[in-house]
Amino acid sequence: MIRILGIAGSPVKEGNTEVLLKEALRAVASDPEVETRVLNLSGLDIAGCRHCNGCIKNQSPEKFCSLVDGMEEIYPALLRAEAIILATPVHIGRMSGLMANMIDRMRVFVYGNAHRGGLTDKVGAGLVVGFLRHGGLEMTLSILNNTFALFGMIPVGRGGMVLTSLEGKGKVNKGIRHMALEDGLGVLTAKGAVQRAAELAKIIQAGKKALRDA
Ligand SMILES: Cc1cc2nc3c(=O)[nH]c(=O)nc-3n(C[C@H](O)[C@H](O)[C@H](O)COP(=O)(O)O)c2cc1C
Repeated sequence: MIRILGIAGSPVKEGNTEVLLKEALRAVASDPEVETRVLNLSGLDIAGCRHCNGCIKNQSPEKFCSLVDGMEEIYPALLRAEAIILATPVHIGRMSGLMANMIDRMRVFVYGNAHRGGLTDKVGAGLVVGFLRHGGLEMTLSILNNTFALFGMIPVGRGGMVLTSLEGKGKVNKGIRHMALEDGLGVLTAKGAVQRAAELAKIIQAGKKALRDA
């Protein structure tokens, strides 16, 4: 079984990012070997890292961070997943503050005895949602792909990029709440990223089993 965890990093509940993420995950809905789950950062209280180094000095299998907040739900979900899809709106040319807070708090997977390397070999895909063509979507996606690599994860090629104004021209389209779903090409890139994440996760799982059985 491949478990895909999708995390929506918008402060807006049921906004474009969340809806796009759910639509992208539909690309693997008919695959009996794949299970999906979505977590919304909008509903979780996640503080920024305070650099207390508790994640390095005091980590244990049960203890990830000295702060106790919404990350308590995120940490075990990250560890359980074979593939992680991070979906974020573009905010001032980069990922949302909520998403950045969450990623900073994932430092526990870089150092220490209990959780170092906890995300190694998991597949990562980024989905970015922005209002403007040349509004920072590519940069945001690059940063997410780099983030996956820093955790020892395997980024799927490019990921997905979706515009929420018609042709990225920056005009508000009244009456359509989820413009992300109107960007057909963008939605295809997002679905392709999820499909590729599932495929890569299967390859990695099969490869590990073959090595164990050899
Ligand atoms: C604080 C803030 C900054 C933003 N900055 C950008 C930006 O730099 N580039 C861009 O393309 N869109 C920008 N946007 C627009 C959002 O990316 C866009 O509306 C997106 O669809 C929001 O997704 P959501 O509904 O899931 O929050 C910004 C929105 C906010 C609230």
